[in-house]
Amino acid sequence: MECRFCNHPLEHTLIDLGHAPPSNAFLLPEKLSEPENTYPLSAKICDNCMLVQVQEQKDHKEIFDQNYVYFSSMSQDWLAHARDYVQMAKKRFDLNLESRVVEIASNDGYLLQYFKEQGIPSLGIEPASGTAQIARNKGIETLEEFFNTNLANKLKSEGRSADLLIGNNVLAHVPNINDFVRGMKLILKDRGAITMEFPHLMHLINDSQFDTIYHEHFSYFSFNTVKKILEHHGLELFDVDELKTHGGSLRIYAKHRRDKSKEISPKVSELLERENKAGIGELEYYNGFDLRAEKIKRNVLKYLISERENGRNVIAYGAAAKGNTLLNYCGIKNDLIPFAIDTTPFKQGKYLPGSHIPVYSEKKLKDSKIDTLLILPWNHKEEIIRKLKYLGEKGTKFVVPVPDIIEYSSPDFNPRKVY
Ligand code: TYD
Repeated sequence: MECRFCNHPLEHTLIDLGHAPPSNAFLLPEKLSEPENTYPLSAKICDNCMLVQVQEQKDHKEIFDQNYVYFSSMSQDWLAHARDYVQMAKKRFDLNLESRVVEIASNDGYLLQYFKEQGIPSLGIEPASGTAQIARNKGIETLEEFFNTNLANKLKSEGRSADLLIGNNVLAHVPNINDFVRGMKLILKDRGAITMEFPHLMHLINDSQFDTIYHEHFSYFSFNTVKKILEHHGLELFDVDELKTHGGSLRIYAKHRRDKSKEISPKVSELLERENKAGIGELEYYNGFDLRAEKIKRNVLKYLISERENGRNVIAYGAAAKGNTLLNYCGIKNDLIPFAIDTTPFKQGKYLPGSHIPVYSEKKLKDSKIDTLLILPWNHKEEIIRKLKYLGEKGTKFVVPVPDIIEYSSPDFNPRKVY
């Protein structure tokens, strides 16, 4: 196996999570009696460019075909984040009715809807038909295609280059990262700006977020590594924001190297140095990550077994991809968690891959007595606890599994570490 960015042989394993089904391969009831495909799930570190990555499976079509289960607009906090970004970007990049905003992986139009509100012309690129259709229903022009150099050339020849090119939580999903970034450079206007958001590898490692590793996420980025990738393609970083989203993300700002119209923020060198000081460029930094994941596995099992033995039922909230990594790595089935709740209509009435836990809508919360609610998308815990506080007031405990087992319960809902 070779590094997907620099082609260096990959000799170091960050973590081997065993075999798992694709995290978004939700099952219809009639599929439960059929064999289920699983693929090796092992994250490697390139000792040349330090890109952390999961091998692309030969048969990865199945993995891609499942991506349409993800609808960005399911989180109110994420929508608020998108709205704030649009306000900021409009001002900072001086966007007006003549500008063009292009978003790669525009999903259901969760972000471009706010540019539309401002009258700023925008174009979404979204390969999944279900989400693309929802965006179109909102009046957002959406091309139902994978972004790559070919598409970039086509858009450029049609005069559809970008003043602002956005890619949120997409770079990790791209098997051919060089072709993708080359394409980004191609459709960026001479004085245009790129912004991209992605979970920060430093948080993934420091906070033992091993459950964010799954087949659909091919790559995991530090600021240093993303800089190498962009520079290789003639792009230059000019700013960075550290965000709380998805357990700690970066929003990077990039431009053409030859574009001297933008100042380079001191935040760029400050974060590069901070990462280097932490040791992100050294293999030793990654040691012990797998042992920390094993410890979380033992703690989650210990917790679920103890709840069960104390006569308390545990229900999962949020059929997130990361939840499936956790459940399958821990070997949890529907004897420990009889069902899960998710607001995504597409996931309801289906079963989680591997664990075969059934997924229901929030209506089920009303007809069930729930002692403990295990929040699998811990990245949304504030929003979920806020929304379901009424259950907490009736005695339900909320618990998150990563990086520690933390409970939140009435009356104060303050965090209490169990293990
Ligand atoms: P998320 O953590 O965003 O991503 P990933 O799948 O990459 O791990 O997944 C959130 C899931 O939780 C998604 O299926 C929607 C669901 N969800 C709810 O059901 N209710 C909510 O209030 C929120 C915020 C999310």
